[in-house]
Amino acid sequence: MKIALLLTTTILMSASAFANPKLAEEKGCLACHAVDAKRIGPSFKDVAAKYADDKKAVATLATKVRKGGGGVWGSIPMPANPQVTDAEAKKLVEWILATK
Ligand code: HEC
Repeated sequence: MKIALLLTTTILMSASAFANPKLAEEKGCLACHAVDAKRIGPSFKDVAAKYADDKKAVATLATKVRKGGGGVWGSIPMPANPQVTDAEAKKLVEWILATK
């Protein structure tokens, strides 16, 4: 019984880990970002490393993903992403911060 529960949890967890790169692709994030390479925007691993100790990172970054902004990684700003809901932005940022 315990083993079955453990297996189900593992399967569910890996399924959601795959759902997030797909969400990033669907929302157009991967046009400017890659997990481990800098493109127009910073790599998601660099973002994860930068905010590793920042407990408020999910909230601040989720807002920035939706509203856009610049000045942190270079001279190119990120445009607003109004196609992303607040919940989706948080989900994406949680995934990004776990890519390190
Ligand atoms: C048109 C290109 C473009 C798209 C599309 C884009 N980004 Fe960005 N993103 C950038 C740039 C450029 C920066 C660096 C901004 C800066 O220097 O403050 C950035 C920065 C970020 C950061 C770090 C912000 C910070 O303050 O450190 C996160 C997190 C992020 N993007 C997530 C996303 C997600 C999630 C999506 C999809 C919903 C997305 N981006 C779509 C270009 C883009």
